Amino acid sequence: MPEPLNIAEATGRLGILTPGMGAVASTAYAGVIAARKGLAAPIGSLTQMAHIRLGARGEGRNPLIREFVPLAQLDDLVFGGWDPISPNALEAARTAGVLEESDIAPISSELEGVVAMSAVFDQRWVKRLDGVRVKTGENMFDLAEQLIADIERFRSENGCDRLVMVWCGSTEAYQEATAVHETVESFEAGMRANDENISPSQLYAYAAMVSGVPFANGAPNLSADLPCMVELAARQGVPYTGKDFKTGQTLMKTILAPGFKARMLGMRGWYSTNILGNRDGEVLDDPENFKTKEVSKLGVLDTILQPEVYPELYGNIDHVVRINYYPPRGDNKEGWDAIDIFGWMGYPMQIKVDFLCRDSILAAPIVLDLALFLDLAQRAGQSGNQEWLSFYWKSPHTDGVTPAEHDIFIQQTKLKNTLREWMGEQPVTHSEAG
Ligand SMILES: NC(=O)c1ccc[n+]([C@@H]2O[C@H](COP(=O)([O-])OP(=O)(O)OC[C@H]3O[C@@H](n4cnc5c(N)ncnc54)[C@H](O)[C@@H]3O)[C@@H](O)[C@H]2O)c1
Repeated sequence: MPEPLNIAEATGRLGILTPGMGAVASTAYAGVIAARKGLAAPIGSLTQMAHIRLGARGEGRNPLIREFVPLAQLDDLVFGGWDPISPNALEAARTAGVLEESDIAPISSELEGVVAMSAVFDQRWVKRLDGVRVKTGENMFDLAEQLIADIERFRSENGCDRLVMVWCGSTEAYQEATAVHETVESFEAGMRANDENISPSQLYAYAAMVSGVPFANGAPNLSADLPCMVELAARQGVPYTGKDFKTGQTLMKTILAPGFKARMLGMRGWYSTNILGNRDGEVLDDPENFKTKEVSKLGVLDTILQPEVYPELYGNIDHVVRINYYPPRGDNKEGWDAIDIFGWMGYPMQIKVDFLCRDSILAAPIVLDLALFLDLAQRAGQSGNQEWLSFYWKSPHTDGVTPAEHDIFIQQTKLKNTLREWMGEQPVTHSEAG
């Protein structure tokens, strides 16, 4: 049996801070508040609904994850966030149009009470949005210090014992790491010099880590996956994870592709197109912002199918991803996949998937799980990249050497085995069923 980790109890209140209070964040808050009142079940959340098998199957030990590991309770969560447009979570939920008014009304006062703090925002990174409540400062270092002050004020005003931060802000324009991102020292000098390669999400990640707050990045842009943040997280002993919530089409892709591969069926192409009409869709209509998303979405098939191991099955795949902004659809995205596979003697077959999904309904439980698991990781004395949380991401952070794992079933095993090991139980190497 592995030695259990010494995990501190989840006593007191846990604050969940979201830079970005749009569709995903407001839906996440609303679902938790509704669950607390017994108005809705937290469907899609592993921390609330999943069981975990312990020992051999015959032992019949299968507790809920939340009864097995010491997680914060829903009643102990407090929400806060920053947004340059949404004034509070109630208006955010109404603007997003994800939830029906009949679901919002019974929790409207709680949502209205989550008032957005002024954001660190720069239109250079999100051209389609025009921020109204935006911080000003001498330079970026000053802005980061304002975020750190916000975090401390939130902590004391809400009597929080612990905090976590989950980026739910818009996807920023595409960028690659530059010299300014090399070390904490170069990053801090860059903030003082207003280096144009530093984006707002990086200032939030910096502020979180300096404050000892675990950080998750729900969008595909660079923020914690930078050498300077890796160094800072190690120095501060802070866990982090990312990036880009795995919902919708990519979720389907990482569910289906492992199945084709398990049966050694070949693949010639996968064409994915999406139409969506929410603010996220509007932001992603800009080619620079779409590029960030495209890179994140294209990565998944290669690691699942291993074309270098199976060149005759997966060595020649046309993988195309498109997103089109189409206002009538609102948050209810439609994702079409045309999948060209081939079987025995090379005969081609086609599969069409038409997923009429609700993006924020799929993303909201991920926000909750990440917050609770990151808080657990911190209480378990873990820091740095939490690879076991790859399950939730389109582009899981890696150590730069081992490639990311995208197969959702392998990711699930890794997640549950990490919990088993932390609690001193044997890992399960086959069959998660039961
Ligand atoms: N919904 C999903 O399934 C899903 C999946 C993967 C990733 N994501 C990502 O999650 C993020 C949130 O998605 P959403 O549907 O809620 O989008 P949204 O447009 O409804 O909300 C994003 C909010 O972030 C705010 N914002 C922008 N820049 C900010 C800044 N610098 N600081 C603070 N707030 C800022 C915007 O004003 C907006 O209210 C997006 O980046 C999206 O790409 C969403």
